[in-house]
Amino acid sequence: MLCCCRGFGTKISCGIQLWLILHPNCLTRQILNVFYFVDLVCYSIFGPTKFLKKRSRIIGPNFASLGRIIVGEYDEAAEIIQSPQHRSHFLGRAKLYSDRFTEKFVLFLSDKDAGGDDTHMTLHNHLWMSSVPQAMRRLSDPAFNEYIVNTVTITKRMNKNKKRITPVVQKMVVRYMYHAFFGAPLNDDLVNTVEHLFFTSGGASSYIGGGVKPLAAPFRCFQCKRNTAITKVLKFIMKSPSMENYTPSEENTNLSRENYARLLMEIIGIAAIVGSSNLCVSILTKIPDDYPIKMDSRNEVLLAVLEVARLFAPVNNINVVLHKEKKLTINKRGYAFPPGTLVAANIGVANLDSKVFTYPETFNPHRLLLERATLSFNHVGFNPVGSGVRQCPGRNIAVKLAGDLLIESRKNEKFEENVDDSESDYRMMDRS
Ligand code: HEM
Repeated sequence: MLCCCRGFGTKISCGIQLWLILHPNCLTRQILNVFYFVDLVCYSIFGPTKFLKKRSRIIGPNFASLGRIIVGEYDEAAEIIQSPQHRSHFLGRAKLYSDRFTEKFVLFLSDKDAGGDDTHMTLHNHLWMSSVPQAMRRLSDPAFNEYIVNTVTITKRMNKNKKRITPVVQKMVVRYMYHAFFGAPLNDDLVNTVEHLFFTSGGASSYIGGGVKPLAAPFRCFQCKRNTAITKVLKFIMKSPSMENYTPSEENTNLSRENYARLLMEIIGIAAIVGSSNLCVSILTKIPDDYPIKMDSRNEVLLAVLEVARLFAPVNNINVVLHKEKKLTINKRGYAFPPGTLVAANIGVANLDSKVFTYPETFNPHRLLLERATLSFNHVGFNPVGSGVRQCPGRNIAVKLAGDLLIESRKNEKFEENVDDSESDYRMMDRS
């Protein structure tokens, strides 16, 4: 009975949001903002998997929620991901205050064929051809393996408890990505600062939280904590080996040193560490212990990582403002959405579409089409070569980290005993 009522509430909320989206004016936009806020709070409390699964079970893969149209039907989501995109200040579930982020943060830039200019393509290619190869080369340093070994040593005793494992993994990913992209290890203090900036949600001190509408509104004049942390992290980045020879040029859209450092801070903070941490936590907590994976086969490990990312999408919503009409089916009825409508291709829901992935909720790295059809890295299919248009440029690093973590977690070494659960293992890694 209670379930029935909750389902009814979800249907009503979706129905009203759908109507408001189809009738845009000042008043309907304001009412839609209230629905966005309520859904934002629910999404944050229940987490993406519960929130999205509930709605897609009740209404179908496409539905109105979070003040936008969520597109979870595989073919439609794939089309949005592949087409030129008009972007604005949206990130995942959130609407953002634009002045809290750099002007040229890639995720907010539109493609040329959708009302933008060449800036997105230039910066995207610059990352793929310059920052990423440099970071990949650094991974042969034994320090990176040490980060992984230490994390497995600590988390092995945590009995797959996601709550306990998550902060350990987040710290490891911060160390790993910062060291890879900036060429110098972080000390404990900076690890804590970066972790706080990018993994907490407070409006006064979190990087993303300090920009989320409307939650950050009361903190607009109280940004001291956030600003102090940003200054500290930027100082590290500006002095890092990666910035040593930086000169503004056409390849980096002539960004000043300060603006380039801030852009890198956002890219690594928002795009790299959050998604990678989510994936690593799922690697340690979601793979059935008795599922056989040949650890000496790099391909088997890759498939296991892709299957975990399919089942538990580390990144969900790809927010796009329609620049031409789009037809979608919602709850068995067809609708035409005009240009200007905010839609979010939802990778998590689309990756579970049974028309493409049979028995979608079963862990099966050998399923047909896994490599060719997965959407997890913002591309139709996983392809380690080529930067694509908006394809995640960090996917090879993320997959290597997750694969190495999986291999290490399945090693039967007996180093769990006498391990101090505190931070001491991380301090051992501190080389600065
Ligand atoms: C498991 C880990 C990761 C996953 C699942 C992931 C997934 C994604 C997805 C879905 C997008 C598209 C987001 C959007 O358009 O709104 C994206 C974009 C991006 N990702 Fe990743 N990512 C991961 C790790 C990384 C890492 C390690 C980096 C490091 C550089 C990175 C850098 C980027 C950048 C720069 C973009 C923007 C691309 C563009 O629009 O030009 N990501 N990623």
